[in-house]
Amino acid sequence: MSHSISSPTSLNRRTLLMGSMGLLTGAAAFRFPTPAIAQSVPLKVGLMLPYSGTFAKLGKFIDDGMRLYVEQNGGSLGGRRIEFVQVDDESKPESATDNMNRLVGREKVDVVVGTVHSGVAMAMVKVARDTNTMLIIPNAGVNEATGPLCAPNIFRTSFSNWQVCHPMGKVMFDAGHRNVATITWRYAAGTQMIDAFKEGFTKAGGKIADDLALPFPEVEFQALIARIATLKPDAMFAFFAGGGAVKFVKDYAAAGLNKSIPLYGAGFLTDGTIQAQGADAAGIKTTLHYADDLDLPANKRFLEAFKAKTGNDGDIYAVQGYDAGALLKSGLEAVKGDWSARAAVVEAMRGAKFDSPRGPVSFNKANNPVQNVYLREVRNGRNEMISIAGTAVDDPARGCRVQA
Ligand code: BEZ
Repeated sequence: MSHSISSPTSLNRRTLLMGSMGLLTGAAAFRFPTPAIAQSVPLKVGLMLPYSGTFAKLGKFIDDGMRLYVEQNGGSLGGRRIEFVQVDDESKPESATDNMNRLVGREKVDVVVGTVHSGVAMAMVKVARDTNTMLIIPNAGVNEATGPLCAPNIFRTSFSNWQVCHPMGKVMFDAGHRNVATITWRYAAGTQMIDAFKEGFTKAGGKIADDLALPFPEVEFQALIARIATLKPDAMFAFFAGGGAVKFVKDYAAAGLNKSIPLYGAGFLTDGTIQAQGADAAGIKTTLHYADDLDLPANKRFLEAFKAKTGNDGDIYAVQGYDAGALLKSGLEAVKGDWSARAAVVEAMRGAKFDSPRGPVSFNKANNPVQNVYLREVRNGRNEMISIAGTAVDDPARGCRVQA
């Protein structure tokens, strides 16, 4: 299977890349297909992801994971060939509405898969609701997407910010930590993940020494690291991801804090970053809905196939992209490729259950995955599972009115 990249069309210097997995000819001519011929027209999937900036690697691994899934299915899902259109969202919330409108309005995609950054995802959710476009979120954890802004056309194959961090509160309390400080970027994902951790930790009886933050995507950590050294909490809880996570972990170790103040975090602190962090990441404990060494046939098959396709070790981002493919297939198969049968597509996707590389996945009433959350530790250059911090963890979907 191949995909082609045509020359970019510029929109305020943003990049639009066209990729195809199947027939390109004829797609544009059939923007309003009748059901009878709909299945012969490729399903157009808009990939709105960061292909540049601090989350560039995360976006690439989601893209690779999704393409791997489609490739393993011969380029078609439920009998529909899949065609991709890519947009680099640069993790910039201020460009998100334009980017999304372009995919929906000009490119006339059938479904959008994106994105990584919670602030960008918020704008995407609003456009998806206004235009009734099907949206599959393959990373961004912004609670609202499957909370107060939940909708039948909005699904997530990743996590909510609450879901992956709440279990860590009890884990850290049970490890004997009583006085913990937090650090993150000051934006939706950072704030919501820290709040979820604090909810679990203070409920268990812990106290918060201080909350430290800097604007996204800044990486000048020195002043905050000096503050941690002065505070001397029992332990730290952190959320950073991508390039920022690499720099934070290295700076923390360079200041010698990893020897005296144990570092914990949301799993993004060490997922997809561990090679670049090297020995500085050793011993960091995190919670996430994935671990590199999960002893599951689906995980082994996935890691082998991902390595064979890309030459890289799979991570949570690749898994979430792969599962976006699996979710799309559930919907398309139920209607034999007739995407216009929206109610049946939604019903099938909401009822989907699959053996993900991360373990069993199903969906709650707000279309957020119900899944295990694992406690991991960086050992031997991998995020190894220590225990299951929460089995079949379900996001509370606060503010989501049950959908029709
Ligand atoms: C977010 O913005 O939701 C996010 C970004 C990177 C990793 C995890 C979450």
